[in-house]
Amino acid sequence: MEAAFWFDSWEKGGFYTGFHRHDIHPYVLKYFTPTELRDKTVLVPLCGKSLDMMYLAAFADKVIGVEIVEKAILAFFQENNLSYTQPDANTYIAGNITVLRKDFMALTPEEVGPVHFVYDRAALVALPTSMREAYLYAIDRLTDIGTQSLVITLEYSPSLPSAPFSISVQEMEDYYGAGHFINLAESPLLMQHGMVRRWNLEFLYEHGFFLTKHTNGVILHKEEQEQAICY
Ligand SMILES: C[S@@+](CC[C@H](N)C(=O)[O-])C[C@H]1O[C@@H](n2cnc3c(N)ncnc32)[C@H](O)[C@@H]1O
Repeated sequence: MEAAFWFDSWEKGGFYTGFHRHDIHPYVLKYFTPTELRDKTVLVPLCGKSLDMMYLAAFADKVIGVEIVEKAILAFFQENNLSYTQPDANTYIAGNITVLRKDFMALTPEEVGPVHFVYDRAALVALPTSMREAYLYAIDRLTDIGTQSLVITLEYSPSLPSAPFSISVQEMEDYYGAGHFINLAESPLLMQHGMVRRWNLEFLYEHGFFLTKHTNGVILHKEEQEQAICY
């Protein structure tokens, strides 16, 4: 969704920020073990006030969250009793956690530095198809060969016109397949999920993809994807 939608969501809170979890995501606990995280930098695009950053920061060398809405950033530090410093208006630092108040799609590698892991929960699925190419370009620009990503997505039916969007396994292949080895590590059917009840969904899967980047700069343009499907 566009930035205005998110500013409005954080302003209204409650139902509109229903994506926020009050626990550490189980896939994070399973795939980002303390040993894996040691001495690593984790990039968390579209981080909101995710508690997962607290877990990641306990074991990683550095956690860099990127969030466009200041209200979410301030809530993160306040709710976790972290006092922060601000070396500039858009950077918030507490210990080894840095949160950048930036449009993720416009971020440069100089602003982030080397990244070992990317943690995307509710980031790609927060974006309509028209915005995903810019997101994928940013991910490609900010990572290098060897970077590993945990990407948590939802796939459900019937599709809804707002975030979180349904993304199929095939779409993930289209988005990441050219530059990454893709491992669909988790795929439970969650019929008790709140969205199933709220929207009377037929099914909902919460996929956990573990990606390892093997090639830089190979994002497929939409036209190329369409051609690939035609051939
Ligand atoms: C669906 S929420 C997910 C938050 C977090 N990942 C979580 O799991 O709780 C998406 C977040 O991305 C932020 N956001 C949306 N567009 C953004 C952009 N272009 N750059 C940075 N943050 C953005 C929103 O304000 C919102 O907090």
